Amino acid sequence: MELKNLLPILWFVFVGFVVVYAPECGNSGVFEPRGRYDRNRGVLLSSLASNVSAQGGYFNSSIGQGSDRVYTMGMCNQGAQSEVCYNCIDYASNLLLESCPNQVEGLAWSEKRIVCMVRYSDSYFFGVRTIEPHFPTPNPNDIRSNLGEFNQVWEGLTSGMIANTTSPSSKSKYYAADRASVTALQTIYALMQCTPDLSLGDCRTCLRQSVSDFQSCCNGKIGGTVYRASCLFRWDLFPFAEAFSRFTLAPPAVTNTTTKKDSIIISMAIFKAVISSTIIIIILLLLGLGFIFYRRRKKYQGSNTTDITITRSLQFDFKAIEAATNKFSESNIIGRGGFGEVFKGVLNGTEVAIKRLSKASKQGAGEFKNEVVVVAKLHHRNLVRLLGFCLQGEEKILVYEFVPNKSLDYFLFDPVKQGELDWSKRYNIIQGITRGILYLHQDSRLTIIHRDLKASNILLDIHMNPKIADFGMARIFGIDQSGANTNRIAGTRGYMPPEYVMHGQFSTKSDVYSFGVLILEIISGRNNRFVHQSDTIVENLVTYSWRLWRNSSPLEVVDPTISENCEIEEVTRCIHIALLCVQYNPADRPSLSTIYMMLTNDSHTLPNPQQPGFFFPNKSNQERDGIESSQSTNKSSSQTINDVTITDLEPR
Ligand SMILES: *[C@@H]1O[C@H](CO)[C@@H](O)[C@H](O)[C@H]1NC(C)=O
Repeated sequence: MELKNLLPILWFVFVGFVVVYAPECGNSGVFEPRGRYDRNRGVLLSSLASNVSAQGGYFNSSIGQGSDRVYTMGMCNQGAQSEVCYNCIDYASNLLLESCPNQVEGLAWSEKRIVCMVRYSDSYFFGVRTIEPHFPTPNPNDIRSNLGEFNQVWEGLTSGMIANTTSPSSKSKYYAADRASVTALQTIYALMQCTPDLSLGDCRTCLRQSVSDFQSCCNGKIGGTVYRASCLFRWDLFPFAEAFSRFTLAPPAVTNTTTKKDSIIISMAIFKAVISSTIIIIILLLLGLGFIFYRRRKKYQGSNTTDITITRSLQFDFKAIEAATNKFSESNIIGRGGFGEVFKGVLNGTEVAIKRLSKASKQGAGEFKNEVVVVAKLHHRNLVRLLGFCLQGEEKILVYEFVPNKSLDYFLFDPVKQGELDWSKRYNIIQGITRGILYLHQDSRLTIIHRDLKASNILLDIHMNPKIADFGMARIFGIDQSGANTNRIAGTRGYMPPEYVMHGQFSTKSDVYSFGVLILEIISGRNNRFVHQSDTIVENLVTYSWRLWRNSSPLEVVDPTISENCEIEEVTRCIHIALLCVQYNPADRPSLSTIYMMLTNDSHTLPNPQQPGFFFPNKSNQERDGIESSQSTNKSSSQTINDVTITDLEPR
């Protein structure tokens, strides 16, 4: 039972500092970039943080005339320090400016230490209850203890909080953070917040709706959030968002039948919990099997359960796509990848990138639509936004936001352009990529393994902020998602971890490996195809960096164009992290949340890296090298390293 005690704490460490709620850009219309509306929005959003923090945590205002009028609102949770509030609002405002390039409406709930909210619109919304749209984001894991007992405590807590938040005599109207214990080891922490422009009755309606939405979508999950424009409801099994500091660290008294401290009773409870969780696991396994069969059947019947309105709003007309790309003219091509060609185009006045999937895609139309809807829901400033799709006969086309500054490899591996990326830019890029993958792995509504992280899949915006491209492609393209084993390998040699090349196994740790290689490329300015050759040794980027590390001269790997002007400690730490990422054993590689913590918290001590997993250019070199690499004696080790994206490799 110690594990159970530990889990909430781990979650707190891993998730507690992460921005959780993605921005939502309304679909009620677009404005002209650099026009009056754009300017007004910029003025309001960039001054919002100082106004909200100066006004004690809430501020609303508007500027402009007629259709150029913009309304904004910003809010922090009650009692937040003004500096923390400033940072949170500032972050959320920037997130909206970046993520909603030309949408006339936007909403972001964010959690940068505290919970805060920013909203803007072209129509008046102060004092107006906005119930739809809403965004439930459950934690994917299931409660393992007695659900009936759990729900009883949960319902008691949430209904008490709603009453407290919305009663005219209450001291803390519109906001509540409270907790209740289910067992001695399990405590529910919940937070509710309405915008204070609402009436108490509207606030109550909004919170009730969110609580019941959670019950109907996500009952049995170990936490989650329902956010909408007028209110937020979040709960978890650990304290979060600095909302519970008024409670001491000791767990609260247990509120139900297990209050008695008698150790025999507690061990009986533990026994019961073990038995019931075993039963629950068995039931879940059966349900899981049933679900797989159901999905299989569904696939063949080609049924489509996607919300039709969402699908429609994402669907583009083939004629429009043709017109936008000059009938897929050669001169519009801006990239070629394993999944097809990418064209630049202009759709409804907005620049977009249009990816025409190669005909090898096995995905049926219904599944394709479903996956596009899922991937289009992922919004993060370090991810390239998927705007929609087009289906026409055999043609499958994806429409993405256009990112102006080409891809990372274009700068990184060019002797002249390299100079434009100084260390602080490169460090910012490493951090941005970390946030993007962390979101894919953990914070988005589902776990998405990228499977093809590489320099050419990192695009750069005008401020050189990184945006990850091509995530979710395995899903959209119809490559088996079952996890442990795949006989279709998608990925790029040189970035692929040993277990992937040899056994087709992939997991989030495969992305971690690729990310490690990418960090080394960013630091060294060298492509992973780089081979270091001296009289006695042939090395690739990974083994070269590892040898320098072992010889206590890690900085020799640093790109000469930045080595004069870089933060030695930051660079060293990044090399250290990269070497941990490329460990042979997936279990030895840190998760993205750990990497994020390692990057942002200097006091976090890093474990020593061991010899990495890698591939040598060819076997004879490897033997001459004399490094004991039992891991690469497989046939794969004799294949040359190259940078070709492989989408179909040796079915097993
Ligand atoms: C802020 O909202 C209130 C309604 O809650 C409204 O009366 C007031 O005019 C708004 N302030 C501005 C500057 O728009």
